[in-house]
Amino acid sequence: MSLSSTSTFPASISDQPSRRIVIGITGATGAIYGVRLLTILRDMPDIETHLVISDAGALNLHQELDINRKQVEALSDAVYSTREIGAAIASGSFQSDGMIIAPCSMKTLSSISSSLCDNLITRAADVVLKEHRRLLLMVRETPFNLAHLRNMISITEMGGIVFPPLPSFYHRPKNITEMVDHTLGRVLDLLMIDNDIVPRWSGLKKSLNKK
Ligand SMILES: Cc1cc2nc3c(=O)[nH]c(=O)nc-3n(C[C@H](O)[C@H](O)[C@H](O)COP(=O)(O)O)c2cc1C
Repeated sequence: MSLSSTSTFPASISDQPSRRIVIGITGATGAIYGVRLLTILRDMPDIETHLVISDAGALNLHQELDINRKQVEALSDAVYSTREIGAAIASGSFQSDGMIIAPCSMKTLSSISSSLCDNLITRAADVVLKEHRRLLLMVRETPFNLAHLRNMISITEMGGIVFPPLPSFYHRPKNITEMVDHTLGRVLDLLMIDNDIVPRWSGLKKSLNKK
């Protein structure tokens, strides 16, 4: 089900709340993380997603994946515009299990770290922090300047989780989807969302051949 911009909370999906996750997609490279995350969560019947895509995020969806905002919004239960500052997710009274920004630009990181609340993504993140819920920022830039690093420290001090999507190779991914899913599985673990997309590590192979 997809519901377009709603400043009041849609009754049809709020009556019996399942687990609610707020998702932001911003203009850092790595749009695939946001899209794949929504695709995985769409297939989990007890998860309700609330999505905000920034304008730069929409640009990168097109640049990197040849898809448009509407196609990605169709993956989410509720969608909002960044300007919709009166939306349900802008209030602490909206009960959620946390928020993931995938990917998270340095601009959005900076805004959240200084509590600027200049759009719905940064306001929703600010609310998640003030309510002591899980905030996970899949920050992406390289290399980092001192402001980026300081902002990440601030987020961590405030209880947020800085989770740059750095791929691992020890599980020998065969393609980009496997690489992305491995990272997203760890993200879902941090939100305590059961998933089987991460191959669970059971020790180095050579330990099986121990003499
Ligand atoms: C193709 C492209 C790739 C970009 N990659 C990054 C990036 O990896 N990290 C970043 O912080 N900004 C990146 N930017 C710049 C952001 O999109 C820009 O700072 C924007 O204002 C962020 O706004 P938002 O946080 O509201 O989405 C990129 C921009 C473009 C056009």
